[in-house]
Amino acid sequence: MTNATKTAELSLDQKAAMTSGAGWWDTVAYPEAGIQSVIMSDGPHGVRFQEANADHLGLSSSAPATCFPPAVALGSSWDRGLARRVAVALGRESQFFGVNVLLGPGINIKRSPLCGRNFEYFSEDPLLSGELGVAWVNGLQSQGVGASLKHFAANNQETDRLTVSADIAMRPLQEIYLRAFRRVVLEAKPWTVMCSYNRVNGVYASQNPWLLTEVLRDDWGYDGVVVSDWGAVVDRVKGLAAGMDLEMPSSAGNGPSQVAAAVRSGALDAAALDRSVARLVGLASKSGTGARPGTTFDAAANHALAREAAIRGAVLLKNDGALLPLDPATGEKIVVLGEFARTPRYQGAGSSKVEPTYLDNALDAIRGLAGNAGVSFSPGFTVDGAPESLSDSALREEAVALAAAADVVLLFLGLPASYESEGFDRDHIDLPQDQTELLDAVVAVNPRVAVVLANGAVVRVSGWAEKVPAILEGWLGGQAGGSATADLLFGIANPAGRLTETIPLRLEDSPAYLDFPGESGHVNYGEGLFVGYRHYDARKLAVSFPFGHGLSYTSFEYSDLRIEAADGGARLTVAVRNSGGRAGHEVVQAYMRAPGSRVQRPERELKGFATIELQPGETGDVTITVPRDDFAFYDTTAATWLVEELEYGFQVGASSRDLRLGASIQIHSEAYIAPVDKESTIGQWLSHPVGGPALLRLIEPVLATYRAGAPEGSPRDKMLMGTRLGQLAQFPVVPVTEEDLDALMELVSRD
Ligand code: BGC
Repeated sequence: MTNATKTAELSLDQKAAMTSGAGWWDTVAYPEAGIQSVIMSDGPHGVRFQEANADHLGLSSSAPATCFPPAVALGSSWDRGLARRVAVALGRESQFFGVNVLLGPGINIKRSPLCGRNFEYFSEDPLLSGELGVAWVNGLQSQGVGASLKHFAANNQETDRLTVSADIAMRPLQEIYLRAFRRVVLEAKPWTVMCSYNRVNGVYASQNPWLLTEVLRDDWGYDGVVVSDWGAVVDRVKGLAAGMDLEMPSSAGNGPSQVAAAVRSGALDAAALDRSVARLVGLASKSGTGARPGTTFDAAANHALAREAAIRGAVLLKNDGALLPLDPATGEKIVVLGEFARTPRYQGAGSSKVEPTYLDNALDAIRGLAGNAGVSFSPGFTVDGAPESLSDSALREEAVALAAAADVVLLFLGLPASYESEGFDRDHIDLPQDQTELLDAVVAVNPRVAVVLANGAVVRVSGWAEKVPAILEGWLGGQAGGSATADLLFGIANPAGRLTETIPLRLEDSPAYLDFPGESGHVNYGEGLFVGYRHYDARKLAVSFPFGHGLSYTSFEYSDLRIEAADGGARLTVAVRNSGGRAGHEVVQAYMRAPGSRVQRPERELKGFATIELQPGETGDVTITVPRDDFAFYDTTAATWLVEELEYGFQVGASSRDLRLGASIQIHSEAYIAPVDKESTIGQWLSHPVGGPALLRLIEPVLATYRAGAPEGSPRDKMLMGTRLGQLAQFPVVPVTEEDLDALMELVSRD
C-alpha cells in the first residue's frame, strides 16, 4: 500500500488524532490503514527505554542499556568515525528495545559555560557540532532507527527554557545557531527534528512558521517530521500551521480536537493537516521498514566501545615534567584521593539519564593495573551530602596524610550531580570549595599530583591548575569512564581528546556573561557572532586552555602544507609526523580568516578537521576539504548565503592557539553589487556600477564646488557621503528633483 492510499481513507478526526502522541512515547496507529505506531525513546547517549512510569525528566527508571559517554566527551574525540560507531551501537540497542526513533543528537551551541545541559551538546562551534551530528545521525539511521535532531533552535540555556525568547540577530542566528542544524539536515536527513521549548525572536519554536517552514523546509528542503519537545506545544493549531507535525506526548485528545475544529471552521487550512499527516505516515512506514524484531546486542562489546569512546574523549590539559603516564614497574607508591574515584560521576541528569549495563570505577581499575604497587585511597570529601563516617575535616586529614606518604597522588575532583542538570543552569563555574581546599592541602605535602576531572561542562581551573603538574579532563565518561581513566593514567591508552569549548580564565571573560540568562522573558544574544573562541580571539583574551587544545604522551610535527582549489572550495593537505615515542592520535584543525571581507568576520573560524593515528616515527598526510558552502557568510540584505571573492587565509595546527602552518587561496565569486535605493547613502550610490555614474552626471557641478572646500575623504566630505539619496531632492542648491531620483531607481532596478 502506498502512503497516499493509506491516508486516503482516513477521516478528519483520524488525521487530527495522528498529530498528537498516543501516549508518552508512541504515536497513533491505524493498523486497518496500514499505519503503525512509532516508538520513541531518549537519547542521546544511551537508550532510556521505559516500560512503565514514563517521564521526560529522568525521574523513573528505565531498562538497562549501555551508557555511552555523553556528547561532551564523545565530541571531545573530534572523531566522526567514532561518533558513527557509537551511534550504530545505539541503533542496535534501539532495535533490541523495539525503539524506532532515538531522541538525539543534541547539537545546540554551548553559548555559555553555565548552561546546565552543556553535557548533552557537542561544542561551542557550529562546524564541529554539525560534523559530529552528521556522523551520529548517519550511524544511527544506518540501523533502521530514526534520529531526532534537537533542540531546534536556540535552546542554549535551561533557565526559563519553556518561555524565554532567544533574541538573536540574523547573522549569528544563521551562522552560529542554525548552521549545525542546517548541516545535519542537508547531509544526513534525520527522520525527525525536535523543536525546542523556547521562543526564537519572540515566537515559540513550536509554532514558528519562519523557523519550521521558511528555514527548515523551504530553504533546507527538509521533508521529515517535526516533533515537539515533550510539552512544548502552546497553541496546537498555530503549531500545525507553522509546520510542527507531531505534538508529544499525548495531550489527552486536546490537541487533536482543536486541530479538527480549526479545519472545520476554516481557521486551519486542511492542506496543512494533510501535509503533516503525509509526513507522519512516511515516518510510520520508515519505522516499519526499518524495524528488526529479535535484534540482540552484545552488552560486553558495547561496554568496550563505551570505554574506547571515553578514552578518546578525555583531554590531557597539562602534563608538566611528563608526570603521566604512571609506570607500575617503578614501584612508586600511588595514592588515589577523591570520592569520584570510587563513586563515578559519569552522566548528566534529566531526560538523557540511562540505567547502565555495567559501571566501572577508576579506583578498582587503577588497583587492577598498578600491579604490586599498593594503591591506597581516601575519599577526601563528600559529594552532595552523601553520608560518611568521618567528619569533613577528618576526611581531609586522612587524605593529606596518605598524600604525604605517597610518591604520586591521583586526585579525582569534579562537579557533584547537584551542580549541573537539564532544567537549570549553574551560576558559577567553580569546583566546590571543599575540593579546591583539599587540593591546596595535598599539594602542600606532595607536589606530584595529577588531577582527574569529572564534569559535564567546563570548570574554572585558574587559581589551582598552576599548582599541579598534570590535569586530565575526563568529562562525564559514561559507564566505562572509570576504566578508561585508568588506561590513560597508566599509558595503556594515549590521550587524544581536544577541547570543544574554551576554558576561560574566569566566568566574567565568557562571551555571554553580560547577557545570560536574560530578564523579563528575553535573552539578548548581544555577543552576536562572537561565541566561544571567536570571542576570546576577537578580544585577544588570555584563556586557561584554548578551543582545540589537548596533549598527548607523544608529539606531532607538521610540515608541507598544500592548498588547492576543489569544486569551488579548497582542499588542504598537510604532512604530520609522530615525533615521539608512542603511538597516538592527532586532531589536525584548519581555521580560516577572511581578510578584507565587507562584513565583520571572526579572527578565525574552524573550517575543517581530521584525526590521524600514527605510530612512533610514522608520517601521514592529512587532507581536509572545505566545501564552497563553508566559505559563505549570511548576507542579511540579500537574505541568503554568499561567498565573497577574497583571498582566504588558512592556519593549520593542533589547537586554535597552536597554529603551525599557513596558506591562502583565492576563491572566485560573482562581483558583489550592494543593492541601493532611496534610503541608501550618496557614498553607497557612488560605489554602484550603474547608479554611481548616473548620479554623478546629475550632481557633478555641485559636487565639484563642494569638494573644492571639502576634499574627498575630509570630514565634510564624509558628511556628504553619509547623506541619504532621498534627501538630495530637498537641498535647494542641488539640482536634483524627485523625478530624477525615480529615474535613478528605475535605472538600477533594471540591473
Ligand atoms: C527534553 C528532550 C527529551 C524529551 C523527552 C525533554 O524534557 O528537553 O531532550 O528528548 O524531554 O524525554
